[in-house]
Parts: sequence; structure tokens; C-alpha cells
Amino acid sequence: PQLNEISLLGQNFARDDYTNITDKICSYLGMNIYLDQNHPLSLVRQRIVNYVYKTFTKSRGNPVFSVFDRLSPVVSTNQNFDSLLIPKDHPSRSKSDCYYVNRDYLLRAHMTAHQNELLRAGLNNFLMIGDVYRRDEIDRTHFPVFHQIDAVRLKTKDELFETKALSIFEEGANEAFTSDQGKQACHSLEAVKLMEYELKETLVGLAKTLFGDEIQYRWVDVYFPFTQPSWELEVHYDNNWMEILGCGIMQQRILSNAGVTEKIGWAFGLGLERIAMCLYQIPDIRLFWSKDTGFLNQFKTADINSKITYIPVSQYPQCKNDLSFWLPENGDFSSNDFYDIARSVGEDLVEQIELVDDFKHPKTGKRSHCYRITYRHMEKTLTQADVNLVHKKIEEAVKNVGAVVR
Ligand code: PHE
Repeated sequence: PQLNEISLLGQNFARDDYTNITDKICSYLGMNIYLDQNHPLSLVRQRIVNYVYKTFTKSRGNPVFSVFDRLSPVVSTNQNFDSLLIPKDHPSRSKSDCYYVNRDYLLRAHMTAHQNELLRAGLNNFLMIGDVYRRDEIDRTHFPVFHQIDAVRLKTKDELFETKALSIFEEGANEAFTSDQGKQACHSLEAVKLMEYELKETLVGLAKTLFGDEIQYRWVDVYFPFTQPSWELEVHYDNNWMEILGCGIMQQRILSNAGVTEKIGWAFGLGLERIAMCLYQIPDIRLFWSKDTGFLNQFKTADINSKITYIPVSQYPQCKNDLSFWLPENGDFSSNDFYDIARSVGEDLVEQIELVDDFKHPKTGKRSHCYRITYRHMEKTLTQADVNLVHKKIEEAVKNVGAVVR
């Protein structure tokens, strides 16, 4: 690539004032750990795909759903946002939340980014599986790369109703409006309720397949720009209600924009890491990226449904170090910028970062942040000298973006 270009999966992109992806993040592209035969994320992926295949079959027993698991993670802002009716000023578009390649392209922040292109291709039942990228805090459950499975199912009037008397659509209603029953005005209540029934039945079945028949669950009303009504499914695990997926009835305008008429659809999206961490009792999300056989060999199984409980090789001690600095004076610095720097130079030793102090000088107006960085190696004990080396590198890196270390 030219000096002002970035090469991603063999394609070159021009840099601009939006570019904020780091070399570290780029190094995850194409790793496809979710496709490695015995990787824990792959076990969960296969269990979910098998469940969907088995739940929806044609008369000869063939699966109804098609699976797309090799779609490029580099998508346009149109795919990730506009095609899903996400408003221009929606916070999820911000530079501090996403990894932008440039103004027009980013690393997908959810698998829903591919919904539109597959609808346009004429598909009615499909799963989209892959790696997604978000700038976020650093702790045991967050990592800037994680994995999602999204699903779409469309149905015609004849597939929905046994009688000719009912219809999917409300006569004369505009698809841009919402009605007070928490449904889209263009939909008939009968159609929505049948879709909601199938969607919820499918997802409760999935939760039981993964976590066992005894699992307690609850539905929470939520908002997504691309579905209405929308819900989250929570399951009770380890004394906590844990959100495992988002879902809903697809916005009819998304379907009509993609050239789909006379059909109604449901969609859901779920994250693989959180489910795998529960199922296998994996304590730290960084372990999914481990090449260590002490980790990977524990998931070598001939039967993807067998119960596996991860046994930590051993818990190595943590090491905490603080870093205080005056923020760059151009005012263009967010905590997520610091997290990315720490990730980039932290050699995967950074387990957690907390902002412990945010100070504004009363006279000069200058701001300073103090971060407490917890270091821990997955496979060995860190010495204070190891930690100092990395800590120093992070210090140098913040100086390079104009911060002044205190
Ligand atoms: N894309 C949503 C997320 O990442 C999940 C979702 C998918 C919700 C499809 C509704 C329908 O949280």
C-alpha cells in the first residue's frame, strides 16, 4: 500500500481524518478463531448452527437456513448503520466507539451489517457469523474483537396463516409510523404475534439447548433502530441475570428498501464469548486468543455437546501500576484512546484498566487522568521488572500523542 493507505485482507483503503484502527487491531483480521475446529467459540458456534438447522427443516429434512461465516469484516458505514435505519447522529456511530478505516469504511460493529446485502440477494432464512469490532473498556469480559451470530427469517402470508382471511399488513397504514400497541403500524397484530411466538419459542429452545432445560429466563423490552418490537433474552446464571441476545420484528422499511415485499421478518443477534465463558467457566476473555495448548487442549472433544469445564492452568498473580498524565491540549482524547494505546503496546498483559481520577485544574483548565492498570500474564508469573518494561512503553506511547506524564 501507499504511505497514506492501509491494506486490510488484501484490499487497500485511503486513510483520512476518521482513521482510528491500530496495527494491533488489524492483526486480528482474518484470524478466524471461531472457525478453528476445537476452539471453544467454534464449539458454541456449531451447537447454535446445529440447533437452527434441526429446528427449521424442509419436508425432506434439509435445513431451511443458509450460513454465511466468511463475510469480510470491513464494511461500509451504509452497511453498518444507514441500511439499518440507524440515525446519522446516533452515538453508536462515534469515532470513540468504532474502529474506522476511513470516513466510509469501518470494521463491522455487529453482524447485522450484512442483513441488507443478503436480503437483496433474495435470501429468506440465513445466519451471519463472524468477528465484530468495538472500542470499549478493558476488563475480564471486554475485548475489542468478539464474535456474533445473527439470524433473519422471513415469512409470507401463506407460510404464516392457514386461512386466506388474514393478512400481514394493515390496510392503508404507512410503514414509517409506529402504533401504540408497540408494533409497526403497517403490520397486522395477528402477523406480529405469530412471528413473536415463533421467534421467542425458537430462542427459548436455543437457551435450553445450550444451558439445559432447567434454565430460568426472562424477556426484557428494549429498543433497536432496526426492529420493532424488540426484546433481549436474559438467562439466570451464577446468581446473575445475564443478557444473551437481542431480537425483534424487522422494520418493514428495511425489507422494502431491500426490495422485499409481501413478507414479514424476525431477526436476532447474539455474542459467542459471553455464552462460551458461562458454559465452560472461562474466567477471562483474553483466553480465547491464547495459543497455549494448556488452554486449547481442554476443548478437544469428539462430541461438541459434551460438558466441558475449563480448569485454569493456575491463576498467576496480578500486578497493579498507576499512570497519571495531563491530556493532550487539543482536547481530542477519550478514555477509549488510552485503552487502545494500552492494548497496542501492552502485549496482552493488560487485564484491566480503571480510570481512578479525572482532575480538572481550577486555574489552567488542564485535565489529567489517572489510570490503574492491572497486569496479568495468562501463562506465567510476571516479575515487577517485566511489568515496568511494558508500563514504560505505555508511558512513552501516551507521550507520543501529546500527553504529559505527571
Ligand atoms: N445487532 C444487535 C447487537 O449487536 C443485535 C440484534 C440483531 C438485535 C438483530 C436485533 C436484531 O446488539
